[in-house]
Amino acid sequence: MKKPFTLTGVALATTLLGTTAINSFAADETLRSLAEERHRYIGAILNSEWFYGNIEAEFEQIHKTQFNAVVAENEMKFDATEPNENTFSYDKGDKMVKYAQENGMRVRGHALAWHSQVPYWVNSYSGQKEQLLAVLKNHIENVVGHWKGQIAEWDVVNEAVNDDNNHGWRSNGSVWFEGIGAEFLDSAFVWAHAADPDAELCYNDYAIEWGLGNGSKAGFVLDQVKRWKANNIPITCVGTQTHIEISHETTPQNVRAFAKELAKLDVKLNITELDIGFPQGSAGSLGQSDYEKQGHLYRQFMDVFLEEPNMGEFVIWGLTDAHSWLDGQQGKTQGLLWDKQYNPKPAFDSVMASLKAHPASQVKSPYPSSQFNPPCEGDGCGDSPEAIVSITANKLSAQINGRTLSIAGAKSAKIDVFDMQGRPVFSMKGVKGAVELQGLPKGLYMVRVRDGSASLTKRIVIR
Ligand code: XIL
Repeated sequence: MKKPFTLTGVALATTLLGTTAINSFAADETLRSLAEERHRYIGAILNSEWFYGNIEAEFEQIHKTQFNAVVAENEMKFDATEPNENTFSYDKGDKMVKYAQENGMRVRGHALAWHSQVPYWVNSYSGQKEQLLAVLKNHIENVVGHWKGQIAEWDVVNEAVNDDNNHGWRSNGSVWFEGIGAEFLDSAFVWAHAADPDAELCYNDYAIEWGLGNGSKAGFVLDQVKRWKANNIPITCVGTQTHIEISHETTPQNVRAFAKELAKLDVKLNITELDIGFPQGSAGSLGQSDYEKQGHLYRQFMDVFLEEPNMGEFVIWGLTDAHSWLDGQQGKTQGLLWDKQYNPKPAFDSVMASLKAHPASQVKSPYPSSQFNPPCEGDGCGDSPEAIVSITANKLSAQINGRTLSIAGAKSAKIDVFDMQGRPVFSMKGVKGAVELQGLPKGLYMVRVRDGSASLTKRIVIR
């Protein structure tokens, strides 16, 4: 069963961190709440099982409590969204976007142009440049257009670099490169930008975390980003997938070095698919120290993430070891933050500890603060953005039931409701007891209650 922030967790974290002093975790502290205070996104995929309603109830409960960013494991890929030519399938993706909106989460779209998970009909155009360009353009226009304004960021091109020691484009096994050449990448970014000018657009790949040495994938990607920026190709971010193993101890610092290079180009670096697996055969013999070592590596990634100002999202490729691509497809195992019974592992405590060790005041964010805080408007304004997301008087409480917001502990309260972009959507003065929140669409909101000098801000869901 799920057991979130236990004393055991604190004890483990203390052991893990050796001499580093840490605070204990308050009951209402989550990865999500700590990331939001730092104006950052922490996410986990929704596994394919979630889309089919075939996953334990704990999964969604933990997912929405602990994360504020979401990505589909398979359901926004080419074969899922355009299974037949010019026939689009959005149901699964729509389900995720709705879930994200109801729970105030940022959505990553994954992935538009990739050599893998391409439907069979695309291959019937193999080698035909004009047709393939038309297919890719039509796909991007439709898919990005369908979710315009709802998907914050797309992996526009995924895994286009080969695995040779001297890296270049993946020229074998990519219907896009073989038929179009490297222009497919530039074109994909331009079409995606035209379809949703506000979306962030990423190049995403694995093995970037191996560092910037001679002939490295990271070095090749960096050269391409420089070329794209020089040519006004609208790339805003790179995703380092970061599917690694417990022995890959240099990878966090490699990611740091790469982030610093991208910062010079005004490009963000996101960790998009992190998992830190053990060799599959070892599963039965893993002990506490192995899991602590895993936690230490997770913590180093979170440290780098919080310390580099052009890093925005920290996304893990799964939530529980019970549902992970590592076992079936990678010959690895146990790479995530929760075990198969949904118990948080030492790695969960380590990531929490890293967040707590980096005070919000010292963490820079690449995003505008309005994405995280409702603005201060109206009477009594002048509080700092930080002040209004915290509970300043704990006598006040607010509870939502349907559309009825019940207030306790107030003589005459002013209620302000904001949407998750921070826009004011409802305001009323002189409230005693309860107020009906009429006219607001279903979804997630921030409500602020003020009574004299007392103030309370909390998230509510209108269902
Ligand atoms: C994986 C999924 O987890 C599997 O369910 C699927 O069978 C194959 O793809 N890099 C990526 C992801 O960009 O899309 C991959 O996801 C993992 C590697």
